[in-house]
Amino acid sequence: MRRATRQNDSMTDSRLAVIVLAAGEGTRMKSGRPKVLHSIAGVPLIGHVLATARELSAAYVVAVVRHERDAVSAAILDLMPEAIVVDQDDLPGTGRAVEIGIGALPDDFDGDVVVISGDVPLLDAATLSGLLVAHREAAAAATLLSAIVDDATGYGRIIRENDGSLSRIVEQKDAVDDELSITEINSGTYVFGVAGLRTHLPLVGTGNAQGEKYLTDVVALLRAAGLSVAAVPVPDPWIVEGVNDRIQLAHTAGRLNAMIVRGWQLAGVTIQDPATTWIDLRATLAEDVELLPGTHISGATTVARGARIGPQTTLHDCEVGENATISRSDATLAVIGAGASVGPFAYLRPGTELGADGKIGTFVETKNAKLGAGSKVPHLSYIGDTTVGDESNIGAGTITANYDGVDKHATVVGSHVRTGSHNVFVAPVTIGDGAYSGAGTVIRKDVPPGALAINVAPQRNMDGWVATNRKGTKAAKAAEDASGGVERAEGTD
Ligand code: UD1
Ligand code: CA
Repeated sequence: MRRATRQNDSMTDSRLAVIVLAAGEGTRMKSGRPKVLHSIAGVPLIGHVLATARELSAAYVVAVVRHERDAVSAAILDLMPEAIVVDQDDLPGTGRAVEIGIGALPDDFDGDVVVISGDVPLLDAATLSGLLVAHREAAAAATLLSAIVDDATGYGRIIRENDGSLSRIVEQKDAVDDELSITEINSGTYVFGVAGLRTHLPLVGTGNAQGEKYLTDVVALLRAAGLSVAAVPVPDPWIVEGVNDRIQLAHTAGRLNAMIVRGWQLAGVTIQDPATTWIDLRATLAEDVELLPGTHISGATTVARGARIGPQTTLHDCEVGENATISRSDATLAVIGAGASVGPFAYLRPGTELGADGKIGTFVETKNAKLGAGSKVPHLSYIGDTTVGDESNIGAGTITANYDGVDKHATVVGSHVRTGSHNVFVAPVTIGDGAYSGAGTVIRKDVPPGALAINVAPQRNMDGWVATNRKGTKAAKAAEDASGGVERAEGTD
């Protein structure tokens, strides 16, 4: 087995290891995706837990995996390259997982082991540090975080002696009626002295309702050996809420979002409707940003001062400049310049870059499109694989025909260009600076700077066509009335 190498910097607690349990199947999620890779606030559950582990500055962080081990360990090492990933064997249970985890620590490590679950995303480092301090001050063999909850269903129950000291933990499936009425539960968060685990974990059996080696059973063994064990209730039980099903996934996501929204409000962001505003953990917002209802600031999006986003807008991995406005739109990997305006109802796909004071307006789709400062695509258009210079205006209903069925081609539009409504730019094509095009033009050839491009056939009106070819229709009647009216008007002159 691979052994952990110690992290070394001045902040490192050389007497601390963290074991993250992530080997379970997560059957209650009913998902093709491993549970710990489901995300809240744009970060997988395991990412939240590893971030907390990192804050403890432990000398070793060990993650125990088994179910979907390739996907889970790849995600862990991506998020925390210094973590050591170990595989649980066929023996099931949290006790076995920790036994495997401590096996990855050096033999001469004699410090404390914090055990946390990969599916408890809201647990914060301050709470864990407090638990560690309590554990060390009491020189305990085990100190665990408990919680008093309204509904203890599914959790292990904390059994205390008459003097209030921790006696043992009984799992829901092994509990008798009296025990089931206990509302103090085991949060699954612990600090152990590694020596106690080394001695007593091998003694834990699997004679229980689930046939698993329970970590919780080590508590009673340590106590029986005369060692000190304690359970410390957490003040806010939601901190230790685990994600076992989709209901808890949504619940923890909502909790975390409420905290993120509140944090940005305190930092100077106006959020009209916190209940319908979702902000991912990695997003950053400047002072005086305004978010309107139904807005999701997703991924690593950054929004500069004074920008107004929403309502009903999703921005994923976007960069929004100062005082830009984006309404009822969807954008991914787009850069929106200062003072620019987007929407309502625009769809900005990856590679869209809108210059300062530019506009991508109503029912416009863009992809890999760079529009210079002050350039506008105001209405009903598709602009793909296109570069536009500064201060140009693309007419309503313009399509860049960028795809010939095999390859994609580029459209290049210069600065101060004015193109007519309902144009098609058949790429590859270049329209020079200061050029114009007429309405309905299909631009198949390059347009030199300053030229007017026009290729629409002259209009011919065939007088009386309706009277001859559509006799008896309402159209014919309307036409007759109109011409009669003209004659009468002439007659009274
Ligand atoms: C566990 C506790 C229970 C506590 C609850 C809190 C035990 C026996 N029970 O129950 O007292 O109230 O957490 O949420 O510990 N895991 C492994 N390997 C395994 C089994 C599980 O790594 O063989 C991991 C899981 O991926 C998960 C964590 O351990 O991250 C907890 O496992 P889970 O099955 O969810 O335990 P619970 O039944 O919730
Ligand atoms: Ca659990």
